[in-house]
Amino acid sequence: MTVRDLTTADAPALLEFYRTLDQEVTWYYLPFGADVRQETLEDHLRAAETGTHISLGLLDEVQRVLGHVFLWNIRDEKPVFGIGLHQSILGQGWGRRLAETIFARADAHRIPLVSLTVLKTNVRACSLYRSLGFETRGVCTMRSTDDSYYMERIAPAR
Ligand SMILES: CC(C)(COP(=O)(O)OP(=O)(O)OC[C@H]1O[C@@H](n2cnc3c(N)ncnc32)[C@H](O)[C@@H]1OP(=O)(O)O)[C@@H](O)C(=O)NCCC(=O)NCCS
Repeated sequence: MTVRDLTTADAPALLEFYRTLDQEVTWYYLPFGADVRQETLEDHLRAAETGTHISLGLLDEVQRVLGHVFLWNIRDEKPVFGIGLHQSILGQGWGRRLAETIFARADAHRIPLVSLTVLKTNVRACSLYRSLGFETRGVCTMRSTDDSYYMERIAPAR
């Protein structure tokens, strides 16, 4: 498995990834909406190529995308973090590896703060995020009132 920057050439493989996620994953992770289209992903990847976002994929030996991690709008005050894995590889350490890779990149870019929202019931993600230095700053609504945490991670001092 390899972790690398995704480009617009990866849009079909990324689309296949999003279209094959099962309900367990999409309950928690639906960053491009339920009916994701290739053009939407191409726009996202084009913006990554030009430095607006950071967008990394976890790819297997036949270049299938099995995980996606991104930081949206890295020049904004509060860039947004997102991560999702294919159901076939949950709980095997790939999420931590992907997240650590993108935060090493974020810290190298001196991105001072990263934000996210996560459903309170997503115990695995919450525990990963806390271990990466995220702190809960409030609650917010994703599917039902106050069902989610809003978290922030301040970059470590250099
Ligand atoms: C959240 C997600 C990225 C985590 O990645 P993962 O590879 O499954 O998790 P890892 O194996 O790297 O484990 C990371 C940490 O989660 C915690 N964890 C793992 N499995 C857990 C479980 N069943 N219950 C509670 N915590 C758990 C552990 O603290 C672990 O830390 P460790 O590395 O010190 O053991 C992944 O599960 C995923 O894509 N889930 C579906 C989509 C999703 O929820 N995205 C996030 C939306 S906010």
